Amino acid sequence: MTVDATGKSVSGINIKSSQNRLLIKNGKVVNDDGMEDADVYIEDGIIKQVGRNLIIPGGTRTIDATGKLVMPGGIDPHTHFELEMMGAKTADDFYKGTRAAVAGGTTTVLDFVLPQKGQSLLEAYNNWREKADNKVCCDYGLHVGVTWWSPSVKKEMEQLVTEQYGVNSFKMFMAYRDAWMLDDYQLYQAIEHCADLKALPQVHAENGDIIARNTEKLLAAGVTSPEGHEMSRDEEVEGEAVNRACVIANQANSPLYIVHMMSKSAVQALRIARSRQRQPVFGETLAATVGTDGSHYRNACFRHAAAHVLSPPLRPDPDTPRAIIEALADDVLQLIGSDNCTFHEKDKEMGKHNFSKIPNGVNGVEDRMAILWQKAVNTGIMDPCRFVAVTSSTAAKVFNIWPQKGRIAVNSDADVVVWDPRAERTISAQTHRHAVNFNIFEGQHVIGSPQYVIVNGRVCLDDGELRVAEGLGKFLKTPVGSPHVFGGEVPGAPATPEELHHSPSRYTNGTPPADLLLLQKQLESASVAGSGCSTPTGRKMREPGQRDLQNSTFSISKETEGLDTKTSVRVRNPPGGKSSGLW
Ligand code: URP
Ligand code: ZN
Ligand code: ZN
Repeated sequence: MTVDATGKSVSGINIKSSQNRLLIKNGKVVNDDGMEDADVYIEDGIIKQVGRNLIIPGGTRTIDATGKLVMPGGIDPHTHFELEMMGAKTADDFYKGTRAAVAGGTTTVLDFVLPQKGQSLLEAYNNWREKADNKVCCDYGLHVGVTWWSPSVKKEMEQLVTEQYGVNSFKMFMAYRDAWMLDDYQLYQAIEHCADLKALPQVHAENGDIIARNTEKLLAAGVTSPEGHEMSRDEEVEGEAVNRACVIANQANSPLYIVHMMSKSAVQALRIARSRQRQPVFGETLAATVGTDGSHYRNACFRHAAAHVLSPPLRPDPDTPRAIIEALADDVLQLIGSDNCTFHEKDKEMGKHNFSKIPNGVNGVEDRMAILWQKAVNTGIMDPCRFVAVTSSTAAKVFNIWPQKGRIAVNSDADVVVWDPRAERTISAQTHRHAVNFNIFEGQHVIGSPQYVIVNGRVCLDDGELRVAEGLGKFLKTPVGSPHVFGGEVPGAPATPEELHHSPSRYTNGTPPADLLLLQKQLESASVAGSGCSTPTGRKMREPGQRDLQNSTFSISKETEGLDTKTSVRVRNPPGGKSSGLW
């Protein structure tokens, strides 16, 4: 981006506008641990006040959020911008990718540095910083792939976790046998080393050896089309690797984070492991998994089928999306990312006659929040607090940037989404912001979208109009030793690793909102401050580090008085006991 002497960018956005003061008025603030009616005052990119009857300086811009939800900006823990893999380069670069992110309500992304085998990790990290720093429209952090193993890799991991580089997570591959895969002996050592460094090991859990052999067999039998992709790596192949990764992490006495969990078998393996592991295990799923399914691999159009190819693959079992959403709501899974890894049609064409040559990856960074809202909140499976947890706050906690990110509270970064639960639109490649001309959610009608997106205090989506500026995002250092992963004192609300990992968090047997009308009614009727959510913590919202600072007037009896109980949602199974909180 070019900036002139007065601080104006060529796109006409005043750089100094970050100094602007902004008041978001009359909205319902939603955090992962509660909701309340509150105004939010922002200055110099930081949230300065949250509450009612705030004293605001003159000249402050006001956004009226009546009937809207005011949530922490989304954190997408899994993107691939400008990644070279399988002989191609992803279409979304750090500008277009983060622009798409912001358009959809995501204000922080965590991308992956993926070194070639034999390449220095530090060199790859520096390349990524060079690609990203001047292009990002929102803040970003980096995970680093441990794609090969040697004493020098071990040493570079030690450097990468220092303050200078700010990396606290490393991804290891159990698949991509010819590119990035580690064997179990190497994986064990890499995980051990992560634990020593108090960094979080992440794994891509699929059995690469089985995939390689199945691919040979399928191709030999004449199966070359995209459906062969899923056939070569069915659910069992993912479930086995999830279990193996958990066993290795348990042997290493290390926490673990499993990226892109795509199947019921994988979730089942995780569910079992989480009950026996000595250290926490986190499960991430994808917008693609909840928003579409593997039936598309059988589409007669190669372009269509190939556009859905990613690994692990989407599953043909039509119950998978629902099961994954329920696992997210029940805290079997904790986060949802996008794994945004878009390829142009011409690149996908490389696999026209051999499914194993189709570059792996789909879109999702733009639609992640709306897709989850549509599939999980509008259907009554998840409440808005849990939505905030899985799309934002938990990522901030796990990657140790909470409460700077992932929270609407005094002193947090002003990364804020004003969410309109009534906004309707149809997702389409005609209107999306990605660099590709295909969208895996094409034609899906969603109700609920961001109306305003504020990135570090700057209004970047302004009543639906996107006004991002290239290069205005910052690199975000992620310090090792997250207390939410490794224990220790948590800065802010007293969520312990125990609460974070093992607490149920959905309302199943109350009266879920059957449709949007009901949801709207709930939002309208829940006008008393401090409505509770069925969150992992089961508490009303608090300022980090303080108790009841919000001074809420909420009381359950008041809230229920005169309310049509059919329009309220009873929180059945919050952690720490039953509750009759309503939202
Ligand atoms: O298919 C995928 N997931 N592409 C991106 C690389 C990875 O494994 O995350
Ligand atoms: Zn992966
Ligand atoms: Zn990925």
